[in-house]
Amino acid sequence: MLRFIISNAFLKIYKYSWSFNVGEYRREATRSYNSYEFFSPDNTEAMEIHINDLIILIPPITWTSQYQMNLGCVQVFDATNTTPERRQVILSFAKDNGYKVFFVESICDDPEIIAENIKQVKLTSPDYTDCDKEEALVDFLKRIECYQQTYVPLDDHTDRNLSYIKIFNVGSRYLVNKVQDHIQSRTVYYLMNIHVTPRSIYLCRHGESELNLVGRIGGDSGLSHRGTKFASALGDYMRSQNISDLKVWTSHMKRTIQTAEFLGVQYEQWKALNEIDAGVCEEMTYEEIQEHFPEEFALRDQDKYRYRYPKGESYEDLVHRLEPVIMELERQENVLVICHQAVMRCLLAYFLNKNDDELPYLKCPLHTVLKLTPIAYGCKVQSVFLHIEAVNTHRDRPENVDVDRDPEEALETVPDHM
Ligand code: F6P
Repeated sequence: MLRFIISNAFLKIYKYSWSFNVGEYRREATRSYNSYEFFSPDNTEAMEIHINDLIILIPPITWTSQYQMNLGCVQVFDATNTTPERRQVILSFAKDNGYKVFFVESICDDPEIIAENIKQVKLTSPDYTDCDKEEALVDFLKRIECYQQTYVPLDDHTDRNLSYIKIFNVGSRYLVNKVQDHIQSRTVYYLMNIHVTPRSIYLCRHGESELNLVGRIGGDSGLSHRGTKFASALGDYMRSQNISDLKVWTSHMKRTIQTAEFLGVQYEQWKALNEIDAGVCEEMTYEEIQEHFPEEFALRDQDKYRYRYPKGESYEDLVHRLEPVIMELERQENVLVICHQAVMRCLLAYFLNKNDDELPYLKCPLHTVLKLTPIAYGCKVQSVFLHIEAVNTHRDRPENVDVDRDPEEALETVPDHM
C-alpha cells in the first residue's frame, strides 16, 4: 500500500508528474503470470523481461513530453528496484535523459503489516483474479521469498552519493540521504507526513446562505433558515459517527463558521479554505455576469480551470492556495472540513485523482456530506444527503462557449433560484 501511496503522492504534489507501475507493464508484456515462480531468480526466461526491457516498453512520449516543454517534471518509476544492477540501469537512464534520481525504499519486517498489506492490496491485484484467497496469500508470501534472495538494500557506505529516503515499517522510522533540491525536500516532507492509519475525511459545504438563495456568488453572508437547519442536522450526523478525536476545520467566512457552531466542538479557521475570489464578479448572479462581462463569462466556460476572474482567482490559483491544507489533511486522522463549492471541488479532485477538466464541474451539492475513506488504490466515497432542502448552485458547461454566443445559450445551464 505504501508504495502505491508514494507514487500517487508524487502525482498529486507535482503538477507535471507521471507515474509508471512496472507491474502493469510486466502484465502487458507477459500475460503469463501463473505463480510466484515467475519471480524466482532461476527463471531465466522471465528474467529476460528485466528492467531494460521495461524501460523501453514505457512509451517515450510520456517520459519526455513535459520535460521538453521546459515545464520540468517528476516521473515515478514504481517497481521492485531491489538490486544494485537494477538501480544502476535507472541511474544510467536518468543520466542520459537529464533526470535527477531520488530513491524511495520502503522496508517492512513487521509480519502484521505485511499480512495486512497483502490482504488489502495484493489479493485484489490482477495477478490473482479468480484465485482462491488462501492460495493467493501463500503464493504472494513465496513471491516475497523470491525477492529476498536477490534483495540488496541501499547501503549507507556504497550508496552514500545517492539521494534517497528509507521508510521503515510504514513510517515508524526514516533515513534520509543527500537531499539535492527543493523537489526532493518537499518529497521527503510529504512522505514523512502521509500515513496508513484507517480514518475518514468528511467534506461538506456550509449550510445554504442568504446569497445562495438569490443566486449570487461569493460575498460573506450568513446562513438562511434552511442553512441553519442543515448546521443542526450536521451536528447530529457527526455525533452519530462517534469519533472521539474529530478535528473540524472551517474557512474565515461567516457561513462556514455559523455551520460549525452547531457542532458544539472546537474548530479551527483556515483562511486558505475561503471560497474562490470572484474579483469584479463578487456578489453577482450568473445572469449579471453575462450581462456586464459576456466575454469573461465565455472565457471562463472555455477553460474553467485556468480562467482567472479580473482581480480575483482561478481554480488553478485555488489548488495552489490549498496545498498546505492538503498536506495537513494527509497528516491528520479524522477531519470534517466545512468549506465552499469551489474549494470542496479542489479537495475532492485531490482525493479522487480527478483531472483539471473534470475538477471545476464536480458535483458538490449543498447539505450533503461526502465521507472519504482512504483504501488501497483509492478512496471510498459515501455521499450523505442530510434531508434539508437547498438551492442548486451547480452550473454545467453550456454547449456553446463562443465569445459571440447568444445570452440564452450562455445561461442555459444556470440553475433556478428564488
Ligand atoms: O454559488 C456558490 C459558490 O460557492 C460561489 O461563491 C462561487 O463563486 C461558486 O460557487 C463557485 O462555483 P463555480 O466555479 O461553478 O461558479
